[in-house]
Amino acid sequence: MVMISTICKARVFIRRRLGYCAIRNAHVCFRAANSPAKVVYHTPRDSSGGLIVAQRISGAYRMITIPAIYKALMFSLGADRAIARYVDEVLRPQPGMKILDVGCGPANILSYLPSVDYTGIDLNEKHIVFARQRYGSRGRFVVGNASNLRQDKKQFDLINVSALLHHLADSDAASLFNALKELLKPGGRIVTIDNVWLPKQRFAVKLVNKMDSGINIRTPEGYLKLLNGLGFEIQARIFNDLLRIPYDHFVMVVRNA
Ligand SMILES: C[S@@+](CC[C@H](N)C(=O)[O-])C[C@H]1O[C@@H](n2cnc3c(N)ncnc32)[C@H](O)[C@@H]1O
Repeated sequence: MVMISTICKARVFIRRRLGYCAIRNAHVCFRAANSPAKVVYHTPRDSSGGLIVAQRISGAYRMITIPAIYKALMFSLGADRAIARYVDEVLRPQPGMKILDVGCGPANILSYLPSVDYTGIDLNEKHIVFARQRYGSRGRFVVGNASNLRQDKKQFDLINVSALLHHLADSDAASLFNALKELLKPGGRIVTIDNVWLPKQRFAVKLVNKMDSGINIRTPEGYLKLLNGLGFEIQARIFNDLLRIPYDHFVMVVRNA
C-alpha cells in the first residue's frame, strides 16, 4: 500500500467509494512501502491476458523515431514552454551538476540546462547521432538500453527519466530503478515525467494517450508501484497544463530515504 504522508498543495479529491485518488495540479508526498499498491491497470493486454510490452514503432509511428520529425512534433505541441517549466519547477538543475538523462531522445532538454556535466542514453542510434551533431562537446551521448546501464556507481546528482517509463514493461522499469539507485550520489534525485491515466480524465486526453507509441501508460499508483521495496522517498505531482493540447503529466521526484 502506498501511504500518503503529506499533502503540500491542495485540490486532492479522494474517491473513497472507488478506492483511488484523483489528483489535479497537486503535490503529494508518498512513501513507498514494501507491500504492493492498489493499482488500476489500463495498459492493453493480449488475447491470453498477458501484458503487451513492446512500444509501437511500425507504420506512422516509425516517423517519430526520426529525430527531426520527433522534435518538430514535440515543439508544435508546445514542448518548448513545457520543458522550460519542467526544468524550472521540478528538475531544478544547478550549474556543475552531473546529470544522467535516460531515454534522452535527441536531448532536447540540454538547451534548457545550465552548464552541467551531461550524459544522455537512448536506444535509438538516430537520436544519439542527432544529439552529438547538435550539442557536440556539451555532453556525452551514448547508444544504450535503459534496462542494462553500464555507468560507474554513485556518480550522478540528478537522473532525468523523461517520457520513458510509459515505453517500458513493469519488469524493465522496476529493474531500471534498481540500477538507477546504484548510480545516484548520496542526496541525489531521480526525476520522472510521463503521461498518465486518471479517473474522470478529459476525453481528449484519453484519446491522445490511446494514440501514444508507448503502450505502458499507467495510473499514478501504477507508476508508484514500480518503486516498491526500493526504500525511496517520493514526491509526486500532476500537471495538466504543460502542453498546448489537453494532456496530463505525472511527475515523480525520487530520493533515497
Ligand atoms: C518519448 S521519447 C522521450 C525522449 C526524451 N526523453 C524527451 O522527453 O523528449 C522516448 C525515448 O525513449 C527511448 N527508449 C525507449 N525504450 C528505451 C530503452 N529500453 N532504453 C533506452 N531508451 C529507450 C526511445 O528511443 C525514445 O527516444
